[in-house]
Amino acid sequence: MEKGVLLYEGKAKKIYQTSEENQLWVSYKDDATAFNGEKKETLAGKARLNNEISSLLFAHLQKSGIESHFIKKLSETEQLVQKVEIIPLEVVTRNIVAGSLSKRLGMEEGTPLKTPIVEFYYKDDDLGDPLVTEDHIAILEAASSEDLAVLREKAIAVNEQLVTLFDELNIRLVDFKLEFGRTDDGEILLADEISPDTCRLWDKDTNQRFDKDLFRRNLGSLQEGYQEILTRLGGASCTK
Ligand code: C5P
Repeated sequence: MEKGVLLYEGKAKKIYQTSEENQLWVSYKDDATAFNGEKKETLAGKARLNNEISSLLFAHLQKSGIESHFIKKLSETEQLVQKVEIIPLEVVTRNIVAGSLSKRLGMEEGTPLKTPIVEFYYKDDDLGDPLVTEDHIAILEAASSEDLAVLREKAIAVNEQLVTLFDELNIRLVDFKLEFGRTDDGEILLADEISPDTCRLWDKDTNQRFDKDLFRRNLGSLQEGYQEILTRLGGASCTK
């Protein structure tokens, strides 16, 4: 497998072509950004931690029958994935009130929700990824209502698996963001990453944060929090 030309560089990952037409080479970066890129730092080891954690979570979901673009881990910081056309929506699932939901509805952070909720945000940096309704998504032609039903169903299925997995590790899965893509055959496939960059993960006993809020809110070492997640998932400890 050969790494080809750089196709795209995002805030946390670089995507390269490969010698296989329908496969892409993902390289995680050590960069951390928040507030739509306003806060930015390079944090040594973050690429490795997110790549390891994301690989473990995608592999776990695959074992549970939830397919994704993930093919295999290529190195400490790289993955091979199936090529998809990303649907321009961020699909956020929430089990506990936190972050923007707390601000938007004036609900106290930490309040458990009776049932999980799913929200859609339009992926557009210039607009700051706004929360969108089904009607907004229709006029933006971002996805059909049938697609939205599939995204919601897949997000809830991922939530069920991950809530159970993290619960066994004494961690609360507060909320998380997923992205999906379309394959050449038109199938909707889970894509992007699932990591402490894209999830809120709290210790069940102490509510200690092990996620990107450590960086967003200056709550402590991001690497130490992410390493705790990797360790509890059974991954290797960071020696570099
Ligand atoms: O900020 P907010 O409360 O809406 O975030 C909900 C969840 O989605 C959090 O787990 C956050 O890390 C994730 N998220 C993300 N990328 C974004 C926005 C939110 O991964 N652009």
